Amino acid sequence: MNKSINKSTAWKKLASHYRWHKNEQMKDLFAKDPKRAEKYTLQLEDLYLDYSKNRIDSKTIRYLLKLTQEVNLKQKIEAMFSGAKINQTENRAVLHTALRNRQNTPVFVDGKNVMPEINHVLLRIKSFSEAVRFGKFKGATGKKLTNIVNIGIGGSDLGPFMAVTALKEYCSKDMTCHFISNIDGSACDDVLSKLDPEKTLFIVVSKTFTTIETLTNAKTCRQWLVDALGEDAVAKHFVAVSTNAEEVAKFGINTDNMFEFWDFVGGRYSMWSAVGLSIALMIGMENFEKMLDGANAMDIHFRNTDFKENIPVILALLGVWYNNFFGIKTHAVIPYDQDLRFLPKYLQQLDMESNGKSVDLNKKFIKYSTGQVIFGGAGTDVQHSFFQLIHQGTQIVPIDFIVPAISHNEIGNHHEILLANALAQGEALMTGKTTKQAVAELTKAGKSKEEISQLKAYKTFQGNRPSNTIVIKQLTPYTLGMLVAMYEHKVFVQGIIWNIDSFDQMGVELGKKLALNILPELKGSSPVSHDSSTTNLINLVKSLRK
Ligand code: F6P
Repeated sequence: MNKSINKSTAWKKLASHYRWHKNEQMKDLFAKDPKRAEKYTLQLEDLYLDYSKNRIDSKTIRYLLKLTQEVNLKQKIEAMFSGAKINQTENRAVLHTALRNRQNTPVFVDGKNVMPEINHVLLRIKSFSEAVRFGKFKGATGKKLTNIVNIGIGGSDLGPFMAVTALKEYCSKDMTCHFISNIDGSACDDVLSKLDPEKTLFIVVSKTFTTIETLTNAKTCRQWLVDALGEDAVAKHFVAVSTNAEEVAKFGINTDNMFEFWDFVGGRYSMWSAVGLSIALMIGMENFEKMLDGANAMDIHFRNTDFKENIPVILALLGVWYNNFFGIKTHAVIPYDQDLRFLPKYLQQLDMESNGKSVDLNKKFIKYSTGQVIFGGAGTDVQHSFFQLIHQGTQIVPIDFIVPAISHNEIGNHHEILLANALAQGEALMTGKTTKQAVAELTKAGKSKEEISQLKAYKTFQGNRPSNTIVIKQLTPYTLGMLVAMYEHKVFVQGIIWNIDSFDQMGVELGKKLALNILPELKGSSPVSHDSSTTNLINLVKSLRK
């Protein structure tokens, strides 16, 4: 049994280093070391990470890197890439990296090379997406299928939704893509009310093919299609992506129209598989493969680069530093790119479903903090919503700013204003504004002594608030692949340090199960075996619905 990480020498060193270092001002560290930015900037091709605006010095990094030795990170990375069953609670390999193994080197699970199957499905995605895009695979009435509807939830929705939005510049202009995830009937209605059944292709995406939201939404969509075009049309308008052929057949989709993936691909790690079919349909296979190439470049970097220069490892260690030593529980991701506005939403599942765990791999309750609350949104929008708290609130929120240097829409000077804002935020958070500076500004603005005394405290910014700036040359399928793989590996490293299984999600099960108990009670039967609040709420909702 491994020793708990918080009992390790590296952890103890970090704890005492924190006590000594916690009041250190980043401003002073920059003043002391003119090469600080250079020293704390990493690069992989067109992706740059400047992590100099963090509350770290060279000792911090040295001790954090020691943590990676304590947990045998190198060996754990190799175990993942080579198909070991590192998803311990489910006894599964974790091979999203094999989905973008562009070198096609063999990867074995239970003695079987998984690459031929992966390549076979990639070929099927290519031929199907091209047939639809070029109008060879037509709808039941002979019309080109130009409306794609992805029906799925969680990992069967968030990746494709985020990527199709992020890569809108690469999407076919005569096609539209829609996503139905929520069980709320409005989600179906909002999409179906806009569409012509003759031109609509539904992709039902569910790893298990038992998820109630997806199956209910798929049934509603199927009925909508059958009402318009008849039962025979289903074969031309419905395809499935799943690991469960039996349930797909039961649902009434011919398994010839099913794209397979495997239990070594976790839902939230699956957009590289056939789960990304809607992405391939919208951006074309060539671009889909570029996205795989970008992720593959990050995989190679992650697997082979010394940890002190390793982008995902450094990001993970910084998160551990803030989470476990500063006691910070949140992390914001702010892309300065309108098309990346759903990236934080995607990362919420990736990070929080992976590392929101409180039992370690030794089956013991954990006594240190794991996981972080991830949130965010597109800059500059969020500057006008929650940034007040980030600049002057009582809690510190470390941020990743994601900044594409070139925009696909260089209209007027929009992009320069956007970039200026992105870069200014990190600077403002780090430098802050002293009361002396605030007084000088107020004086210059002609304020009276009373006004200055009234306002100076409110105009002061403590600063010393950390951020990473991730610059990419431009948002492309390739750089999107790099970015997403970078976060996947960050989450992986943190899971290893915290000694948790980042690849199960048992925490989502209890609520689902209780909903199945409540459903018949809402329909008529009397509530049984609930606490009094839940019983009252069931009765209240029932009476309001009468
Ligand atoms: O919410 C839990 C979860 O199992 C996610 O991990 C998954 O991405 C989602 O539900 C959808 O599951 P499925 O693809 O099996 O429908």
